[in-house]
Amino acid sequence: MGSNTELFHRTWYPIALADSVAPNSIVGANFLTGRVVVWRKEDGEIYVLSAYCRHMGADLSLAEPMDGKLRCPFHHWSYDEAGQCADIPCANSVPGSANLFQYPAEENHGLIWGFSGESPEFPVTTFADEESTEVISEARYMGHIKCPVWILKLNTLDIQHTRALHNQDIIQYPNIEINDNGVMDFDYVVRDKKAGLINATGNYFGPNCIALSLMMESGALSFVVSAGTPTPEGGHDLFVSLGIPLTVNGKTMTRDEASAHLSSLWDLYLRLFDEDLENINSMRFKLDRLISEDKYMKRVYDYAKAFPIGNPGSAFIS
Ligand code: FES
Ligand SMILES: [Fe+2]
Repeated sequence: MGSNTELFHRTWYPIALADSVAPNSIVGANFLTGRVVVWRKEDGEIYVLSAYCRHMGADLSLAEPMDGKLRCPFHHWSYDEAGQCADIPCANSVPGSANLFQYPAEENHGLIWGFSGESPEFPVTTFADEESTEVISEARYMGHIKCPVWILKLNTLDIQHTRALHNQDIIQYPNIEINDNGVMDFDYVVRDKKAGLINATGNYFGPNCIALSLMMESGALSFVVSAGTPTPEGGHDLFVSLGIPLTVNGKTMTRDEASAHLSSLWDLYLRLFDEDLENINSMRFKLDRLISEDKYMKRVYDYAKAFPIGNPGSAFIS
């Protein structure tokens, strides 16, 4: 699998921090092989559209929201939320081809997501417990990572490095299963020198996104979403969202208690991330070097390799 094939996975990609797009505003973002705009309407709904105006290609991140439409600054063509051109001030009719590409979009865990396909084939990241309780969370952009996104995702089930680099004991080796909808489930148990016993259950929502639910020895349930979007020059932009549900097994903690747990969770996450980063950014991965102890990573590799590909908006976004 070359470093560019991940550009085309049909999956949910994080595009921006949700906080960075205020109501009634438009933000541009590089996406896959081109560029999109994230448009939040007055009612808070999010739309992700190809960025280049269908007239002469102006970048619509410069557009203004106007009467519920997105108005190109150049010649004032206006687009609706589906990307269809609704008005051309200096013409009597609108050409049928005057539409932007609309990506399926979601706002979730403090992130704006776009699906690289005509319609979503599986849900954006979810946790079983999050519907029934408030979650204190924080999302961050973690920077540009030099390796392909699916290689970073191998890291979670890289048991050798869990022990050697992170100095954690493996209490239960991973169980891994692929669901009908293409989401891959896993669980494992480790003991961290500082955080104690960690019971992890997780899902790969595509080769670029992991959702981990960690039951910590402290009693706090912790949500970790780690997702990346490939960049054309190689590597990927990494976004992470951490969260603490307030109510677990009928017990509710205060928001202050949850904030303290969230702060500890960031400490743990950043320690592991820092230990990984130099290795991740400088490695040259070759599949045939893996050994039998790397079999969990090989499952992730096989999952990524078999994952459907697609980049349906490519002609619109570049
Ligand atoms: S380039 Fe957008 S209206 Fe002309
Ligand atoms: Fe790691």
